[in-house]
Amino acid sequence: MPPRPNVSRVFHRSLVQKFPEATGARGAYITDASGKQYLDASGGAAVSCLGHGHPKVVAAVTHQLERMAFAHTSFFTNEPAERLAEILSAKAPGGEWRVYYLSGGSEANEAALKLARQLHVERGEMSRDTFISRRLSYHGNTLGALSVGGRTAHLATFGPILLPNVRKIDPCFAYRWQHEGESEADYAVRSAAALEQEIADLGEGRAIAFIAETVVGATLGAVPPVPGYFKQIRRICDEHGAFMILDEVMCGMGRCGSLFACEQDGVVPDMISLAKGLGAGYQPIGALMVREELAEVIEQGSGAFIHGHTYVGHATACAAGLAVQQVFEEDNLIARVARMGDRLADALAAQFADHPHVGDLRGRGLFRAVELVADRASKEPFPAAKKLAARIKARAMENGLICYPMAGTVDGTKGDHVLLAPPFIITDAQIAELTDKLARSIDEAIAATA
Ligand SMILES: Cc1ncc(COP(=O)(O)O)c(C=O)c1O
Repeated sequence: MPPRPNVSRVFHRSLVQKFPEATGARGAYITDASGKQYLDASGGAAVSCLGHGHPKVVAAVTHQLERMAFAHTSFFTNEPAERLAEILSAKAPGGEWRVYYLSGGSEANEAALKLARQLHVERGEMSRDTFISRRLSYHGNTLGALSVGGRTAHLATFGPILLPNVRKIDPCFAYRWQHEGESEADYAVRSAAALEQEIADLGEGRAIAFIAETVVGATLGAVPPVPGYFKQIRRICDEHGAFMILDEVMCGMGRCGSLFACEQDGVVPDMISLAKGLGAGYQPIGALMVREELAEVIEQGSGAFIHGHTYVGHATACAAGLAVQQVFEEDNLIARVARMGDRLADALAAQFADHPHVGDLRGRGLFRAVELVADRASKEPFPAAKKLAARIKARAMENGLICYPMAGTVDGTKGDHVLLAPPFIITDAQIAELTDKLARSIDEAIAATA
């Protein structure tokens, strides 16, 4: 076959859509090759928490590259890895932690699943063979992470090759699942009781771990649990010997107004997976944090986690992560997230509270979402065939706004929301620009569905 002219040799995410070329980025804005500027109100997918081009992170990465870019961790440790782990352990709730570095969120969750199983094996609990997770969640695209994820769109293609030993319960999602007249406290108990029931159905001594996003990100749109939910989950996991894994790949590292999202739920999980805001986009880095006493089970048992990738503990990636933590500290940025998050919530409420097609505004800190409905009273979503989320994304790009619309909010197919995750440095003027461009994009997209 003759070569096709003018075809990108990149296997892009979409082979039918054309993407503008990003050529520069500073602060809250990305510029494309035509010179057009976009307000980056979702940090891609909740990644760029410091905005773009932060001089301190750039300097730290550059310095590390010149000093020593990489030394394989089966031979060496390195200073940025050690220092970053010290900081994360000191700041995580509930005592000491160990940090296993990875290159992204899927890898962090994959490692969590394997470590949970290995821990049981080391303790002689060989019968534990099943994970429990939640419907309508997202934990990544590798096969293990995809198996515990609760998106349904991929099932027709990949269902037959996913892990068979995964059970799922409903998410804790007040807007759609809390009953009329039910208190938050009662809903927390009912929602968490599904885990106890699932463990009972499975049989005592079978559950390896329960994994959930502390605040659900992409699939449901910034859905925090109702107060008390994770305390119930913690109790149930303890009573039945299952590990509690919180996926904070998206919602962690300050995004919700505390370094770890679960601090606000008053719980200490057994493992926490991190990525995105950990490296803030300056380097690809993820991490799995595990409670010290669990790491000691391995230390005093077989001596090693049966796992590893080439780039585990990559010095330059860790240098970026360390610099991000230092900027958080020096600029008191996490407190700023809480403050600006309230302002963003107020601005969204002012813009959308009376909008006929906005059913819910929710989130924590600078992790917010707008859920769209055809009818507010019945909460009926737009028909999936209208492709509202995709239309909003296209209109927003046209209007110079990067946001993160997703479809499937209600059941994996129906429902639409827009996720917002602006940088922690966002200003009041940029919040006004965000809400204005978002409102315009939503209205244009809805008009186009008529
Ligand atoms: C909650 C959550 N977990 C895991 C992942 C997977 O992370 P990655 O894309 O870095 O593999 C994501 C990515 O969006 C996520 O939002």
